[in-house]
Amino acid sequence: MYRHIVLLGAPGAGKGTQADALVKTLGVPHIASGDLFRDHQSRGTELGVLARSYMERGELVPDDVTIRMVEERLTREDARVGFALDGFPRTLEQARALDRVLVRQGRCVDMVIYIRVPEEELERRLGGRWLCGTCQAPYHVVFSPPRRVGVCDRCGGELFQRADDAPETVRQRLSVYLGQTLPLIQYYKGMGKLVEVDGSRPIEEVTRDVLARVSQNGD
Ligand code: AP5
Repeated sequence: MYRHIVLLGAPGAGKGTQADALVKTLGVPHIASGDLFRDHQSRGTELGVLARSYMERGELVPDDVTIRMVEERLTREDARVGFALDGFPRTLEQARALDRVLVRQGRCVDMVIYIRVPEEELERRLGGRWLCGTCQAPYHVVFSPPRRVGVCDRCGGELFQRADDAPETVRQRLSVYLGQTLPLIQYYKGMGKLVEVDGSRPIEEVTRDVLARVSQNGD
């Protein structure tokens, strides 16, 4: 099994949803840069205050602070066995920094899973998304509703909607994605690490595909 996985895709493509499936199968932590920023915000740290000003506008948080934050997370004990990275890297600068950090640790990205979804579908998904305030599990009013309205199936936490899922911020996030993150597809293709999955199918079908890809290499 591959265990150093990057999930690449537009906002709403299903990176967080599929990362959860990888966590269960591979026993690696789900490391989501957006969740790390939201955690800083809820704790009122300096980084949280800085990140909020960018996230509210649908812009990327500057590379230097983002790289430092993820690098610190990657050095923790649980990430020694691998990771499902979600939302990072998002720029070429971040991708190169990730390579440098991993080389220093004597490892590398094994596989980059690019979840491809048409743009009109992304807006529908983000418009109906609810997240658990405690464990961050994602739900959707139509595609994956919780058993009880407003309550997380997994931990009983309260569900909320993200402020940056408002339609005009989603459009800005998509435009930033096209300009700054899409070049990563060529970067990882050139390294022979990119696999593409059709993310427009139902969640379970996408998961089957993703798990089949990471199982290609049996160690
Ligand atoms: P972040 O939190 O990373 O958000 P994002 O990349 O925009 O991605 P999302 O979390 O919105 O989508 P997802 O692909 O995880 O989809 P999900 O599985 O939830 O980033 C937020 C902000 O933080 C950024 O705008 C930026 O400001 C900052 N930031 C974060 N990382 C950064 C970085 N590296 N550098 C700089 N700034 C950074 O699914 C979406 C919905 O669809 C859910 O409701 C789900 O249930 C549903 N769904 C999922 N799959 C399917 C399916 N196959 N069929 C039907 N419904 C589905």
